[in-house]
Amino acid sequence: MSKDFWKNLPKPILALAPMDGYTDSAFRRICKTVNPEIIVFTEFTSADGLHHEAKKVQEKFRYHEEEKPIIAQIFGKDVKTFITAAKYCEAMGFAGIDLNMGCPAKKVVRSEHGIALRKKHDLAFRLISAVAENSALPVSVKTRLGWSDASDLIDFGKGAQNAGADLLTIHGRTYVQGYKNPADFNPIYELKKELAIPIIGNGGIISYDHGFSVLGNLDGFMIGQAAIGNPWVFIKNADISFEEKVPIIKKHTQYLIELKGEKIGTLEIRKQLLAYVKSIPFAATYRLKLVQVDSLDSIHRVLDEILLDYNKVEIKVLA
Ligand SMILES: Cc1cc2nc3c(=O)[nH]c(=O)nc-3n(C[C@H](O)[C@H](O)[C@H](O)COP(=O)(O)O)c2cc1C
Repeated sequence: MSKDFWKNLPKPILALAPMDGYTDSAFRRICKTVNPEIIVFTEFTSADGLHHEAKKVQEKFRYHEEEKPIIAQIFGKDVKTFITAAKYCEAMGFAGIDLNMGCPAKKVVRSEHGIALRKKHDLAFRLISAVAENSALPVSVKTRLGWSDASDLIDFGKGAQNAGADLLTIHGRTYVQGYKNPADFNPIYELKKELAIPIIGNGGIISYDHGFSVLGNLDGFMIGQAAIGNPWVFIKNADISFEEKVPIIKKHTQYLIELKGEKIGTLEIRKQLLAYVKSIPFAATYRLKLVQVDSLDSIHRVLDEILLDYNKVEIKVLA
């Protein structure tokens, strides 16, 4: 894959945000089923783990051909392990490597990974240039506005570009804000005016049209939490009935079971099932059943029951 991958992609770029615990291969495939044009990223994956050939870590990089072009996201703080991880990503057929410099999780920050790198610009730039120089893949960086404000964003962006970054994704919140507060895209628009490389904006986008309304001068937008239980967020006018959703939900379940086996797959699909039915008012009564599913059959049974109720309610409304 060429270093010009990001530059050559049709704009605006629509991307599914990497979300640890959610955006595994099964979920990414489902989002691409709904809109094949979106770009997907793996969940963040430890460069140290890849360097030490940890099996569990390598498993996180499993993906399906349908997801291509797919970007691998890594985190860490060690130049040597980033280079090994980059070579691994190349051998695995990824289209690009994304460096996580935004994760605010306590464990990650304590290890001086993720957003902690915004306190150490020099190290962050060394990591970017090490990957850029030692890999044929394009390198991108995903970060936030800053630690407690956006005052170093432009300096950081320029340094990242000079170090060889081919794209930046900026989440319009600071570390201190976590996932609360509305995202602020203004500092991202300002950054774009200063850089030549493409920039994706992220944070708080709840629909396709909303993404376009906050796009401004940016090259694309990325959606995270609003896609959970709603992969239709990636299409225009996504007025989809539950009847149309059920086959996709079943497919998602099937993909997850194929990926992780029936035992783990059915455990992990539970939170996704709850998210899928969240917008159906009467579905609350099915919550208990949904968190107890333990086989593909039981999932199909509960979904079919909900659908039956859903159609009854629909008929009543129409009558
Ligand atoms: C459960 C969860 C897991 C996340 N995991 C990652 C991750 O692995 N890598 C990453 O760069 N960002 C991660 N993020 C941040 C998202 O990619 C995104 O930047 C953030 O959720 C803001 O976008 P949104 O408001 O559309 O959700 C995670 C967010 C959530 C909620």
